Amino acid sequence: MNQSIIEKINNLKKNKNAVILAHNYQPGEIQDIADFTGDSLELSRKAASTSADVIVFCGVLFMAETASILSPQKTVLLPDKNAGCPMADMITAVQLEELKQKHPVAVVVCYVNSSAEVKAISDYCCTSSNAVDVVNSIDAEKKIIFVPDKNLGQVVKERTGRDIVLWPGYCPTHIFATADDVKKIQTAHPAAIMLAHPECPGTVRDCADELLSTGQMLKYVQNSGKKEFIIATEIGIIHTLKKQNPGKAFYPASEKFVCPNMKKITLEKVLFSLEDNKYIIKVPDETAQKAKKALDKMVAVLPKG
Ligand code: 13P
Ligand code: SF4
Repeated sequence: MNQSIIEKINNLKKNKNAVILAHNYQPGEIQDIADFTGDSLELSRKAASTSADVIVFCGVLFMAETASILSPQKTVLLPDKNAGCPMADMITAVQLEELKQKHPVAVVVCYVNSSAEVKAISDYCCTSSNAVDVVNSIDAEKKIIFVPDKNLGQVVKERTGRDIVLWPGYCPTHIFATADDVKKIQTAHPAAIMLAHPECPGTVRDCADELLSTGQMLKYVQNSGKKEFIIATEIGIIHTLKKQNPGKAFYPASEKFVCPNMKKITLEKVLFSLEDNKYIIKVPDETAQKAKKALDKMVAVLPKG
């Protein structure tokens, strides 16, 4: 059954000159059929540089919007139109305007997990892999507003020592993990290195050896001589970690690390999206042109290390 769906997907991909991009949290069978998998920054760069006419984005809405803004001449498809990111919806453009009025000279840095309207009124965009580098690239005297993730924002604040106004947004998936969950796993696997996503709450981040984006986690494990890892982020990444590192063991820091929106994408929906051009994600021109300025700065900053 899956095999015949995959054959149809591959044929349609060829006929339409389409490329499939999948985030590291996607279900394993989606990551397996993708042309490229990666974190938000890697996928944004790929969307900006691909020569395909159609991008099937297996991820959530803000990722497909970002691809469309960076590559406006391409058709960007999101196989499930309801695959959103609740964190991205935690700040509206109206709320950000109000915040900007309270801090009129501050520079606005928005996490890529945000709406196109919020990006359009931000100065810089960043992902978890280059947030510190993006903030360090801004004039040291400037006050910064960082939206919407308070956890990544706190990490950036600690690592840069900058004057940063945070917004109380958070990821509902990462927030569920507790330090108690993590400590139990650490006690059971004392030799394991713990890698955590910066979206985790502070009590969980404090237990981690490294705070990394999903793409950085994959590279870290491949380059490490260690054999055991506790992974504090969405469990979809464990599929690729196991595939790339057959001799190593991976333990999710919590069974609660499941993003229901990332799991809305299925092989059938990828097929339907290619068959019927569903669902086309297109940001209105004026918003897209403004948001592109902030996104171009994000894509230009390569993470250090
Ligand atoms: P990455 O950019 O690290 O892949 O993170 C995306 C995301 O949505 C994390 O929840
Ligand atoms: Fe959004 Fe969290 Fe899902 Fe990432 S894991 S897409 S931040 S809800």
